[in-house]
Amino acid sequence: MWQNYHLPSTRSEALALLAEHGEDARVIAGGTDLILELERGVRHAPTLVDITRIPGLDSIALEDGMIRLGPLVTHSQAVASRLLVQRAFPLALSCWQVGSPQIRNQATVAGNLVNASPAGDAITPLWALGASVTLASRQRGERVLPFEEFFLGVRRTALQPDEMLVSVQFPPLQANERGTFLKLGLRQAQAIAVVNVAVVLAFDGGRVSRARIALGSVAPTIIRAPEAEESLVGQPLTEETVARAGELAAAAARPIDDIRVSAAYRRAMVRVLTVRALRQLAEGSERSGWPVHPITLRGKEVADCGLRIADCGLAGPDSTVCFIVNGRQVAVKGAGQKTLLRMLREDLGLTGTKEGCAEGECGACTVWLNGMAVQSCLVPAPRVHGGRVTTIEGLASEGRLHPVQEAFIEEGAVQCGYCTPGLIMSAAALLAELPQPERAEIQQALAGNLCRCTGYFKVIRAIERAAMI
Ligand SMILES: Cc1cc2nc3c(=O)[nH]c(=O)nc-3n(C[C@H](O)[C@H](O)[C@H](O)COP(=O)(O)OP(=O)(O)OC[C@H]3O[C@@H](n4cnc5c(N)ncnc54)[C@H](O)[C@@H]3O)c2cc1C
Ligand code: FES
Ligand code: FES
Repeated sequence: MWQNYHLPSTRSEALALLAEHGEDARVIAGGTDLILELERGVRHAPTLVDITRIPGLDSIALEDGMIRLGPLVTHSQAVASRLLVQRAFPLALSCWQVGSPQIRNQATVAGNLVNASPAGDAITPLWALGASVTLASRQRGERVLPFEEFFLGVRRTALQPDEMLVSVQFPPLQANERGTFLKLGLRQAQAIAVVNVAVVLAFDGGRVSRARIALGSVAPTIIRAPEAEESLVGQPLTEETVARAGELAAAAARPIDDIRVSAAYRRAMVRVLTVRALRQLAEGSERSGWPVHPITLRGKEVADCGLRIADCGLAGPDSTVCFIVNGRQVAVKGAGQKTLLRMLREDLGLTGTKEGCAEGECGACTVWLNGMAVQSCLVPAPRVHGGRVTTIEGLASEGRLHPVQEAFIEEGAVQCGYCTPGLIMSAAALLAELPQPERAEIQQALAGNLCRCTGYFKVIRAIERAAMI
């Protein structure tokens, strides 16, 4: 894991830390990629520079004809942003399909870019939208790189060790432009893309005047399909032109066989997804599946609880993490190199929060951080300094169980019980967000919580019952 954890409160402080520590330092945003890399020992980063306390980095703005995303914009925020849904729909669609609600609450769009996975879901639509990134360093100032220059290979970018990605920018869709994003995974949630495709088209009358097609998970980086794009320009979207573009997109792919699927299957799916995307745009049906109320489990933001970061030295293993857990102020010494999950269980005895996978996949460790559902196995403990955490032990109030807890008992929605605290934390966050959810919305809320024995029938019935109380 890491040795030193810094929580700078300004951008220049963060850049100074990166300049000072060079190759030994790494920015941490959501941590959903980085914590796993550190746990698995595939990344050397003794010094982490946590940028989540720097104000203003989570803005989504339309400025000078460009949409700009700050480096802390999460996938949840992107999904909830009216601007992005209206003017950058392929990006909103892709963020909606990342991981689970908890992962989307933690993970950032910028982290997805810097991680540079060939299957990174946010990269594909941004590439089709013509995005660039702004990188800043203390010594050299800022530079802007188009995606073609930023992405160098599998998990390789042009980012230098002393640089921080400070914004992502791209032109919004115009009145004559439309776009979509399709992802094929081995399941509907918590799945890395087998293939993803983003298409952005401009129309002049009934004909395509410009086309951008980006393909993910079929080459070392996301790629464009220039022949397929050219084949569409000047054409109406007929079955023939769509089929031809699908074939040309498949020909552009350079997929590999891997543990999930074969290269041949990937190539075939590029054709299928490209055709489906173009048909959606021909019919104008690309928004038809967009949820009326995308479930985020973000809760009602809880204001900072008043503790000051300066109260505790947070640079070493002996640092003290001060925060409020279940309404009680605590100061935990020696947890500076742990995850929140381990600190809760090992230092505070709050063992209701379970460890299932320790990889963000199962949801057994779900807690609320400042009101928002997160996977505590991927939250560095020092991150919660000055914050507010609610665990399953804090859900009951004034001696009464939470309605979701009562309903789980009434419906017998528990077998071994290992998944139950996480399920209840997600369900209670859902009811706080949407008191009377539809069944599909309950399913969205539980997408990040796995149960291996009871199954979901009684769990869903319990949540429906709680919603009626
Ligand atoms: C269970 C699970 C499911 C997932 N599902 C998906 C999925 O469906 N689709 C998908 O694409 N991804 C998925 N991911 C991967 C991950 O969640 C995303 O890549 C996410 O967007 C990363 O963002 P982050 O803020 O957590 O990045 P972090 O882990 O904080 O950082 C990732 C990398 O970027 C660097 N970094 C972050 N921000 C900056 C910055 N501003 N400047 C410089 N460097 C920076 C870090 O140093 C690190 O190297 C999943 C991960 C998990 C654990
Ligand atoms: S998601 Fe955290 S333990 Fe499985
Ligand atoms: S009740 Fe056993 S894992 Fe869900």
